Amino acid sequence: MAGRWLLRRMPGYLYCQLSQLARGAFVNKCKSHQPYSISVGLTEARNKMSLPNQPYSTSHTTVDPREIRKFQLLAHKWWDEQGEYAALHSMNDIRVPFIRDTVLNMRSEHELGRPLSGLSILDVGCGGGLLTEPLGRLGASVTGIDPLEDNIKTAELHKSFDPVLDKRIQYKSCTLEDIVEESSETFDVVIASEVVEHVADLETFVRSCGEVLKPEGSLFITTINKSQLSYIFGIVVAERVLGIVPAGTHDWEKFVPPEELERLLESNGFLVKTVKGMLYNPLFGSWSWIGSTSINYALHAVKSSAQSQLDPNETSQENRG
Ligand SMILES: C[S@@+](CC[C@H](N)C(=O)[O-])C[C@H]1O[C@@H](n2cnc3c(N)ncnc32)[C@H](O)[C@@H]1O
Repeated sequence: MAGRWLLRRMPGYLYCQLSQLARGAFVNKCKSHQPYSISVGLTEARNKMSLPNQPYSTSHTTVDPREIRKFQLLAHKWWDEQGEYAALHSMNDIRVPFIRDTVLNMRSEHELGRPLSGLSILDVGCGGGLLTEPLGRLGASVTGIDPLEDNIKTAELHKSFDPVLDKRIQYKSCTLEDIVEESSETFDVVIASEVVEHVADLETFVRSCGEVLKPEGSLFITTINKSQLSYIFGIVVAERVLGIVPAGTHDWEKFVPPEELERLLESNGFLVKTVKGMLYNPLFGSWSWIGSTSINYALHAVKSSAQSQLDPNETSQENRG
């Protein structure tokens, strides 16, 4: 009973993540017996809402249309701090300082009050701009991209309320693959926060991150592990024990263990510097850093310079959760 109350009080996004996790594993386990698919439900919802036929770019491989349809339904909810994205709002309390401090530690000088000025950042899968905006306020020049046009419209609208951000942030509705050619080695920092668990082709995604980063540029990723604990919390507790499972679109198979992400990054020319566990407290709606990466985690990797790629002995790992 207490557990049910706790889960009911979870901000929507985490609740969604958990239930989707449970649903994803359940669907995979019971594929042959499943009388309907999640995508069918979403397609129906989408048709009912008369959504445009192609609200996202379909010409490249990292976009999973089922994931995008889910975000389409919530495209106007980004800036509702108590709504479905409440946990992403509060995640800023730890992810913004993590990005800022990591970058500052790697720079010799910075401007007071605008510590990220002079830096060019790409926020991939920026959604409504929840993370893009604070980075712009810290002085960075930020490009936010998202395959879903309605997300970008929401982000543009919200940015327009703050004239300071107008010059510092630009948004574009596209995929990472769309801009790889024109943006080769353009950005000092690339961020994909809570995105990789939604992409269709992680390898292409990671490779593209490397292509748009300058040599020795930084990549920040936050995502969710595919762990036993996630399974127990999401499947056993949320679905089977408590029976609280709203329709979801997450594919449990898409959650990425940190070891797998590290391996992928390192085989694509990155050095993984930091992997830290993150924990969400649903009672207080707050995030904290923890030693365990078994549920959520954040990662910082640096694109190897041409020189260090020639020197396989270079290993500089600073902080392992
Ligand atoms: C959970 S939201 C995170 C939004 C934002 N990064 C934040 O933390 O506030 C995931 C976002 O990834 C976007 N997305 C999904 N697939 C993507 C892909 N293949 N490439 C880039 N973005 C993608 C979605 O449209 C959505 O806006």
